[in-house]
Amino acid sequence: MKADPVRVGILISGRGSNMASLVKASEAPDSPYRVVRVLSNVEDAGGLAIAAVAGIPTWAKSHKGMPRAEFDALLDAELRAADVELIALAGYMRLLSPEFIAGWQGRILNIHPSLLPLYKGLDTHARAIAAGDAEAGCSVHVVTPELDDGPVVAQARVPVLPGDTPDTLAERVLGQEHALYARALADYARSLR
Ligand code: GAR
Repeated sequence: MKADPVRVGILISGRGSNMASLVKASEAPDSPYRVVRVLSNVEDAGGLAIAAVAGIPTWAKSHKGMPRAEFDALLDAELRAADVELIALAGYMRLLSPEFIAGWQGRILNIHPSLLPLYKGLDTHARAIAAGDAEAGCSVHVVTPELDDGPVVAQARVPVLPGDTPDTLAERVLGQEHALYARALADYARSLR
């Protein structure tokens, strides 16, 4: 018998292009996962409208003025109420509290725009260019309490070209992110069944 698709919740903070690509891939009849909620810590994140058009229930609340653990407890409650089994961070630009991560051990994936372990944190493309790297890329990894540090499950590479700016490089990497994340999330979801 075919297993039910893994119930995925996606966390975003911005335009949500990775989220949109994950949703699109999940619409294939044989997708091993289904996106059941899109949540954001930014109330006017552009990706929320994209999710709504795709018919996915959204939840958004600003974290401003709230202790991290308190905000994350709200996220946790929303995810559990939706019977989410696996979380995909897709441009979620906020650290998660250790308590939250402990409650979802091995159940949170993130996409990061560098070839981890290089360039954890922000400004990854500017740092790759400044270092004179010949290649850049993106990584999907399991989230652990240390920032951008958990086991890498997939990577894609692109060349750094002469004259690249952080923006041109970011665009080239983003093209790879969309395909990589959809494939990695599907593989990871299959491994949970
Ligand atoms: C993506 O490039 C993603 O890798 C990056 O933010 C962008 C979000 O774009 N994530 C991080 O830097 C996480 N530390 P999107 O909202 O269009 O998916």
